[in-house]
Amino acid sequence: MIEQDTIVLRNQPAAPGYFRMGLSCAAGFDSAKPGQFIMVRIGTEATPLLRRPFSLLGQIRDADRVTGVEILYKVVGKGTERLSRCRSGDRLSVIGPLGNAFLVPDSCRQLILVAGGVGVPPIRFLAQSMLEREGDLHRCVVFVGGRTKDDLVCITEFDLPGFLLDVSTDDGSQGNQGMVTRSLEKALDSGSADLICACGPPGMLKAVSAIAAKRGISCQVSIEAMMACGMGACLGCAVKMRDDNERYRHVCVDGPVFDASRLAW
Ligand SMILES: Cc1cc2nc3c(=O)[nH]c(=O)nc-3n(C[C@H](O)[C@H](O)[C@H](O)COP(=O)(O)OP(=O)(O)OC[C@H]3O[C@@H](n4cnc5c(N)ncnc54)[C@H](O)[C@@H]3O)c2cc1C
Ligand code: FES
Repeated sequence: MIEQDTIVLRNQPAAPGYFRMGLSCAAGFDSAKPGQFIMVRIGTEATPLLRRPFSLLGQIRDADRVTGVEILYKVVGKGTERLSRCRSGDRLSVIGPLGNAFLVPDSCRQLILVAGGVGVPPIRFLAQSMLEREGDLHRCVVFVGGRTKDDLVCITEFDLPGFLLDVSTDDGSQGNQGMVTRSLEKALDSGSADLICACGPPGMLKAVSAIAAKRGISCQVSIEAMMACGMGACLGCAVKMRDDNERYRHVCVDGPVFDASRLAW
């Protein structure tokens, strides 16, 4: 993990209210993994004072060399609004890669990925990394959900060899009508999985965790918390664990990816 000045390569709308940004990084991201995140300082003035966390959408490569990273973000407040106004050539101070990553064991044959709304970035990175994996993953199904079709961001990125994409929207404007968890349950009623990896809103993650637990399927979730430092110093991102011996963990250093069964939902 290093702090560095990155250069904005591009910052383009990806859907209404969503932007996709490419950052050129001198070093540090060769071994970045799906689930890890960066802390971005947005602007040099006091507001917003704190860096903002964003999951990696993927690495930018020039031949075999990693030359940068991409993020995908939704404009929700002052920091992301300011980020959306960045132009190519602007400089942004970034710390990363931070946190842990999804871990798909070699023994996994049937993998299910679930992304809701702005939970797409680490799931897209994970899907991409599965292509490079040696061994034999027999089946990978990606469930992506959003409130409307405008919340389905970068879904064409899941159009990958050997992947099956299942899309849901709450209002039925694209794909199946209903929550992504309904499609997931339906698929599991007629099939099985070795592992589910998910990222999205807390309600969705809780439901995915319950679905996995009911069927005895391992489940890893990437969760969010308000983060001031991103590296274990402020203790502001504590999350309660199920086991009293563990009590609390910190999302920035112990996560953001957790075994869903360890969290006190
Ligand atoms: C590990 C991690 C990875 C993340 N990855 C992404 C990503 O890939 N793409 C993306 O768009 N966003 C991501 N986020 C959330 C992102 O960091 C926040 O949306 C951003 O910090 C908001 O900054 P802001 O100044 O625009 O909003 P603020 O003005 O700070 O807040 C605006 C609103 O958003 C809420 N909010 C702010 N931060 C969070 C948070 N961390 N969790 C839940 N609600 C929050 C506030 O409560 C408030 O209601 C991630 C967060 C974490 C912790
Ligand atoms: S954000 Fe400061 S300890 Fe996690």
